[in-house]
Amino acid sequence: MKRLYALLFIFSLLFTLSACGQTANNVQTPAENTQESLAPMDTSHLDETEREVSNTEVSPSEQIQYNSKNFNFETRTVTLNSGYEMPIYGLGTYSLHDEECKNSVTAALNSGVRLIDTAHAYGNEAEIGEAIRDSGIPREEIFVITKLYPDQFSDPDAAIEEALAKLNIGYIDMMLLHHPGDGDVEAYHAMENAVAEGKIHSIGLSNWYVEELEEFLPQVTITPALVQNEIHPYYQENDVIPYIQKQGIVVQGWYPLGGRGHTEELLNDPVISEIAKAHGKSSAQIILRWNLQKGVVVIPGSSNPDHIQENTELFDFTLTDNEMAQINALDRNEKHDWY
Ligand SMILES: NC(=O)c1ccc[n+]([C@@H]2O[C@H](COP(=O)([O-])OP(=O)(O)OC[C@H]3O[C@@H](n4cnc5c(N)ncnc54)[C@H](OP(=O)(O)O)[C@@H]3O)[C@@H](O)[C@H]2O)c1
Repeated sequence: MKRLYALLFIFSLLFTLSACGQTANNVQTPAENTQESLAPMDTSHLDETEREVSNTEVSPSEQIQYNSKNFNFETRTVTLNSGYEMPIYGLGTYSLHDEECKNSVTAALNSGVRLIDTAHAYGNEAEIGEAIRDSGIPREEIFVITKLYPDQFSDPDAAIEEALAKLNIGYIDMMLLHHPGDGDVEAYHAMENAVAEGKIHSIGLSNWYVEELEEFLPQVTITPALVQNEIHPYYQENDVIPYIQKQGIVVQGWYPLGGRGHTEELLNDPVISEIAKAHGKSSAQIILRWNLQKGVVVIPGSSNPDHIQENTELFDFTLTDNEMAQINALDRNEKHDWY
């Protein structure tokens, strides 16, 4: 009898140890969670159609395309390498000023948008801060990106204080260097210090491509959390996007609809229009969804509340592999701005 009890005891001990081991192995550290990985994707957050797309056999490069990094299509956010969560769609505010800017931000917040992109160069940080303060939405639910312009790199500490004062919303969620320029490494170091002081949560770059990143990254301590570059169906950066994503950096596209003066051609593109018809969606929604499925965060600019609302309705359909490939084939390497 004693021998039987001893055997039972050893058996239950072994069972408990193996269960603990499994639990421990399943725990993902934040660092692992934000790493680029070619391992099979966790598709638990995707809807049925999205799961079908992501479960098809794909080559590693295609997998990078579909593996929208840590994009969570349920919460509509991505976890940055800084540990902060950022919405994967937002409002761009280039060329919006005064009341028009305030009204656009208010309309976006009312439509559920929680990511606002601005910059010193847009001259509208004050209006954006005002709209956010007036919204009554808790500060921590809104994610604000602003940027330092190269003519500010010579005194970055003052430029950071200026942005904090103009926005007047406590901290800045993300600050980017707007373009490469003289003193950019020093300006980035100033942003790193502001992160340590809690004035800025995350930092990144804009208009940095492969060559510029290769030169820049070894000179800084904090890996950028975000790179914001021109990306639309006629200028796709298909070589740059995977390069950035492989470093655990999130990619965000500016001019997602081609930029003012170019939207008409892009939105009337026959391929995009046909796909839009098939899904009962607008061309703008197809382009924005194409970006999201490539793991690219979108910040379309608009002052029209109907467009702003339309640009949030991106999560009730999925583009097939074939539709993604058709849009990928539209690339013309056609830049719509000089930087
Ligand atoms: N880092 C950089 O160097 C850089 C450079 C440029 C831009 N950006 C950022 O990227 C954001 C996006 O760029 P963008 O605003 O210049 O260009 P965009 O988003 O490509 O296009 C904006 C244009 O699209 C129209 N539009 C928006 N939604 C639409 C819809 N659903 N249907 C039809 N038309 C629609 C807007 O008109 P309505 O107002 O009539 O809707 C506006 O004329 C900027 O606002 C800015 O925040 C960054």
